[in-house]
Amino acid sequence: MFLSQLFILLLCIQTIIISTATNIHENVAISCGASGNYPAPDGRLWIGDSTFTSSFLHLTGKSINSRVPHQAALSDPVPYKSARSSRHQFTYKFSVKPGHKFIRLHFKPALYNGFYKSKAIFTVKTDQHTLLSDFIPTLAAGMNYFKKEFCINVQESETLSITFIPSRKSSFSEDTYAFVNAIEIVSIPSGLYFTPDGDQGVPIVGRNYRFYIDNSTALETIQRINVGGNSISSLEDATMFRDWEDDTNYLIQVGAFSINRAVDIRYASSATHVAPKEVYLTARSVGAHCHSNFCNLTWNIPLDLGFRYLVRLHFCEIEPMITYEGQRNFTIVINNQNAEDDANVIKWSGGNGISVYRDYVAIMEGDRREGKRNLTIVLQPKFPSISKHANAILNGIEVFKISNPDNNLGSVSPVHPVISSTPEKSEESVLFYTKNQIATVLTFMVTLVNVAVYYIRCISEMNSGKTNNRISSGEHQCRQFSLDEMERSTNNFDPQLVIGSGGYGPVYKGDIDGGKTTVAVKRLKRGSSPGGERVLDGNQYVIYAPP
Ligand SMILES: *[C@@H]1O[C@H](CO)[C@@H](O)[C@H](O)[C@H]1NC(C)=O
Ligand SMILES: *[C@@H]1O[C@H](CO)[C@@H](O)[C@H](O)[C@H]1NC(C)=O
Ligand SMILES: *[C@@H]1O[C@H](CO)[C@@H](O)[C@H](O)[C@H]1NC(C)=O
Ligand SMILES: *[C@@H]1O[C@H](CO)[C@@H](O)[C@H](O)[C@H]1NC(C)=O
Repeated sequence: MFLSQLFILLLCIQTIIISTATNIHENVAISCGASGNYPAPDGRLWIGDSTFTSSFLHLTGKSINSRVPHQAALSDPVPYKSARSSRHQFTYKFSVKPGHKFIRLHFKPALYNGFYKSKAIFTVKTDQHTLLSDFIPTLAAGMNYFKKEFCINVQESETLSITFIPSRKSSFSEDTYAFVNAIEIVSIPSGLYFTPDGDQGVPIVGRNYRFYIDNSTALETIQRINVGGNSISSLEDATMFRDWEDDTNYLIQVGAFSINRAVDIRYASSATHVAPKEVYLTARSVGAHCHSNFCNLTWNIPLDLGFRYLVRLHFCEIEPMITYEGQRNFTIVINNQNAEDDANVIKWSGGNGISVYRDYVAIMEGDRREGKRNLTIVLQPKFPSISKHANAILNGIEVFKISNPDNNLGSVSPVHPVISSTPEKSEESVLFYTKNQIATVLTFMVTLVNVAVYYIRCISEMNSGKTNNRISSGEHQCRQFSLDEMERSTNNFDPQLVIGSGGYGPVYKGDIDGGKTTVAVKRLKRGSSPGGERVLDGNQYVIYAPP
């Protein structure tokens, strides 16, 4: 018994040595709060963090090993039988190779010994990014256990830290705690989700400039959908362990028709890791008897407001009779804006049975605190080209949330005013405004210039070699102000200091840093949020004061 365990341990240490030695590929699965190692159905080993004896992993801070109560754990797979939990902050530090990585965090809300299930409220951060903010796992709709997936870049000679911080806010109870059941770190081939060096970036739907997903950005996977087929489990994605869901929860059924063909799929680029072939073997297209409006294919995906999203559409022509350009012409409309006027899969891919994907950035305008709205993806056939063939096709959808310039992927707790800073690029400043609001913003900008407004510097990493179109989501460290400071800076909101106003309320001239710096303080009118102007976290460039 003991010998066999020792053997598995040795085997696993060996695997770790091998996997770190082969340089490019990192693939680690840690079972938190567990001792020993357990084979996973996908061929990997879940390594217990309590017995992990390698310089690869360091655990700091006060935390304990917790077991899921016996009854609840019986039917669940390995990493969900134990957890690491604490009322204090704790950090996992991994000595990984530089490069792009998936971080997957696994959670099973349960009655851990000594902790109330409902008091798990916490924030999760890496050194650069906030991945989850005041996260409440029990709110994850009806799921026994689940995982959250993020994509980040690890720089040369950087360790990857993942810190769990129990939330301490007056609105929460005293004894909140953090827990995690498992952590995966898996290498992502460079160029797969992050914009490769020298690439021109991803087009933003409805704007005529592009977005550069640079190394300072973090992504959160929101949705992976296998259109027209069944869900595909991570077991079938042998190198990156991604899950794909079927599209029935998102598709508006009218007129849609599913295709499933046993085609020998080839990849358009050398990027064979873009998606498993199973994703391309199924698709949706328009039924043969489509009449006018019912020809549209529509998917609705609920997303948090106040963020940009990378939307990746996967295509592969699998109908045997469609082999040349122009047999299937359609338009792609995302959030009511044309993303593609002349979508032509055969032209993009080079032939039948060859997969291809297209990326777009969609902006979900609004306030993070307003919750979710649907992202709408519509494929609309071009009527003049209607022939006996159905005439639009989609095989897969991926949606990733892009971190905001304040390096945050989490939503904001409604109790605190939002305070952020001035941009160095004008494009970015209007990014989240609707046309009606732009006029207000421009007027306001002029005012800002007139009073020689101080730019609260976000340290933005401007890479001079990049194209002008690039919107950097650089490294920003935003300064936050307390209400006290804002009151002092504006002489308790002295009416004499009002320099303008808008739908949102008055704007005051203020001084900070002992009078060394002049700022504009925008005070929200009582009841104007969220009804009046929207507060756009990380993209608003003035100091906000609450009513
Ligand atoms: C971004 O990161 C990738 C992988 O770590 C690296 O290959 C690439 O050169 C980096 N790009 C820049 C501009 O630093
Ligand atoms: C299909 O798209 C067209 C053009 O956007 C639109 O006019 C029509 O209302 C859409 N039909 C449906 C059912 O969504
Ligand atoms: C369909 O695409 C082909 C090739 O790109 C083009 O020649 C044709 O005009 C398009 N048809 C329509 C209706 O847009
Ligand atoms: C999104 O659309 C679906 C229909 O596809 C609808 O049931 C749901 O309520 C919508 N969600 C939001 C947040 O608007």
